[in-house]
Amino acid sequence: MTTRLSGFGLGMRRPHYAHYVAGEAPVDFVEVISENFMVAGGRPIDTLMRARAHYPVALHGVSLSVGSAETRSDDYLDRLKALVDRIEPAVVSDHLCWTGIGGFNSHDLLPVPLTEPALDTVCRAIDRAQSHLQRPMLFENPSSYIAFAGTMPEWEFLSEMVRRTGCGLLLDVNNIFVSATNHGLDPHGWLDGLPLDAVGQIHLAGHSQGEHGLIDTHDAPVDPAVWALYTEVIRRTGPLPTMIERDGNIPALDALADELMLARQAACAVLA
Ligand SMILES: [Fe+2]
Repeated sequence: MTTRLSGFGLGMRRPHYAHYVAGEAPVDFVEVISENFMVAGGRPIDTLMRARAHYPVALHGVSLSVGSAETRSDDYLDRLKALVDRIEPAVVSDHLCWTGIGGFNSHDLLPVPLTEPALDTVCRAIDRAQSHLQRPMLFENPSSYIAFAGTMPEWEFLSEMVRRTGCGLLLDVNNIFVSATNHGLDPHGWLDGLPLDAVGQIHLAGHSQGEHGLIDTHDAPVDPAVWALYTEVIRRTGPLPTMIERDGNIPALDALADELMLARQAACAVLA
């Protein structure tokens, strides 16, 4: 049965699979990368089904490519729908990005120019995906490293995307901090323009300093400035399901659980 997402979770990553399968991870939910499990059978889906017996699941995609003018194949949407029907996830999400062209998947979350024509393209793709899945999805704000000339602010694009499609937002607080810093903007001011009532889930992650700016690397603990921004989000929205993404330098599950405790404490403190 499909459940609602609430509380505090982690991205379920391979080094910790045994803990999730045994129901030993101290989390309220798990998030997995959809494409890793869009198969009919075998070990990956078996692992996910066993974890699903203990935890609500959020399915987080990286290849829907709603920013591409090329229509995503029916095959991809059929396989995603089959996974959704099987797992009955609490949330299905993807990113505001495009990932490839001509059948080539770059496995990168490439930047969408925030223009009216791109907004039309994105909304068409979201409408198609949501009607194929017969449920609303969440879309994540990207971390950005470049800006296109003649475009609207990201918060304006996201607001209109939500208004036109009825989708929700997966608010990645680290991505806001990375993007705002890279573009010389105030991350707290960034929040003012977002439709925060549409946020259905929050991501936290670590970043690193690159040669030309901050990079969303997911390989370090959450930065103190991102914790401060998270606190501000929760102060404005009230409680929201929150999770930490860690994809590099993955520590023991206990260490991630300790970091997740900081999110619980931050939310508790601000809501108290
Ligand atoms: Fe994220």
